Amino acid sequence: MSSYDWLDTEYAAIEQAGLRRHLRTVMSAPTGTIHLDGRDVVLLGSNNYLGLSTHPEVIAAAVEATQTFGTGASGSRLISGNSELYTTLETNLAKMKGTEAALVFSSGYAANTSIIPVLAGEDDLILSDALNHASIIDGCRLSRASKKIYQHCDVGHLKTLLSASTAFRRKLIVTDGVFSMDGDIAPLPDIYNLAAQHDAMVLVDDAHGFGVLGKDGNGTVSHFGLEGKEIIQMGTLSKAVGALGGYIAGSRALIELLINRARSFIFTTGLPPATLAAANAALDVIRSSPELRKRLFSHAKRLKTALIDLGYTLLPSETQILPVILGSPQRATRVAEALLTEGVFAPAIRPPAVPTGTSRLRLTTMATHTEAEIEQAIRAFATLGKV
Ligand SMILES: Cc1ncc(COP(=O)(O)O)c(C=O)c1O
Repeated sequence: MSSYDWLDTEYAAIEQAGLRRHLRTVMSAPTGTIHLDGRDVVLLGSNNYLGLSTHPEVIAAAVEATQTFGTGASGSRLISGNSELYTTLETNLAKMKGTEAALVFSSGYAANTSIIPVLAGEDDLILSDALNHASIIDGCRLSRASKKIYQHCDVGHLKTLLSASTAFRRKLIVTDGVFSMDGDIAPLPDIYNLAAQHDAMVLVDDAHGFGVLGKDGNGTVSHFGLEGKEIIQMGTLSKAVGALGGYIAGSRALIELLINRARSFIFTTGLPPATLAAANAALDVIRSSPELRKRLFSHAKRLKTALIDLGYTLLPSETQILPVILGSPQRATRVAEALLTEGVFAPAIRPPAVPTGTSRLRLTTMATHTEAEIEQAIRAFATLGKV
């Protein structure tokens, strides 16, 4: 008997429910085809939407920054870890987002778990979409605010909840811009109007919209022409930007408060110089390369149409994220394994990442896929038959 025996029991229960996760080892860069477990497979599960993590200008910037500034920041930003690379990046982000200022965090997860407790506390109310990302859910938990969950993208439900919520000091509505597992876009204009009527703040998580939606890839707020409105924009540098880090873009007052209150900003080491320089270079490419967004969406359209023609059930995504709904976790795992045998890597997504009964493959296209790779993936799905 050991006090650690429960670990085996816990693990066995996860396995039994078909929810066991394990790590796979990728032996190459996240391009259209990767080297995985000893063989080449088409990658349909990456957030490197524009292929910028392997863009020559982005890599050159990262190498140069490492040579100039070294490999690590060696301190938290408020001590010695802040550099001009941060200043440039935050100025560029604020410009793209149309806000007074921006602040970079070490990840999107860190940004959400910090900003939400800064915006809302014990006397406040958070209204959160039912399908918001786990980092938002964790931020809400840390805030100690009251929470009401509105049905996914249901503005009517949000209105009902807001109307019944007068006894709070502050109200915060929080939503993914592009939903990470469904690929649909939040009804931001309606949410913004409701917030204005009910004196509520709005926080939009643009992790999957930044770089791909809106003018010059500026994201979901720009997609709806809501630039300049009082919407706090959060995002990541880890997806279309191809690097790492999270950010908040908003008013100067908000950013100053975050610098003083956001715990995951204060109590952690700054990002490596290479990461900051890569993100900066990637922003330049995002602004100047509309053809990347065109290719990304053209691949998504081709893949989506072909899979629907083959009889697969896809959620009505409007973006590069294509959810193929399979139901049980066991079925999702079986289909993912069968696809891998056919040379396509598209990992199964199961609860708690998605609601029970909606296990799926979350397919994502990249601008750097070739047409041949997309066709190879479609052929693989066609050969699966009933799995
Ligand atoms: C909607 C959403 N928000 C936040 C995050 C966290 O971002 P990061 O990976 O930079 O920590 C993710 C990434 O998984 C996400 O999908």
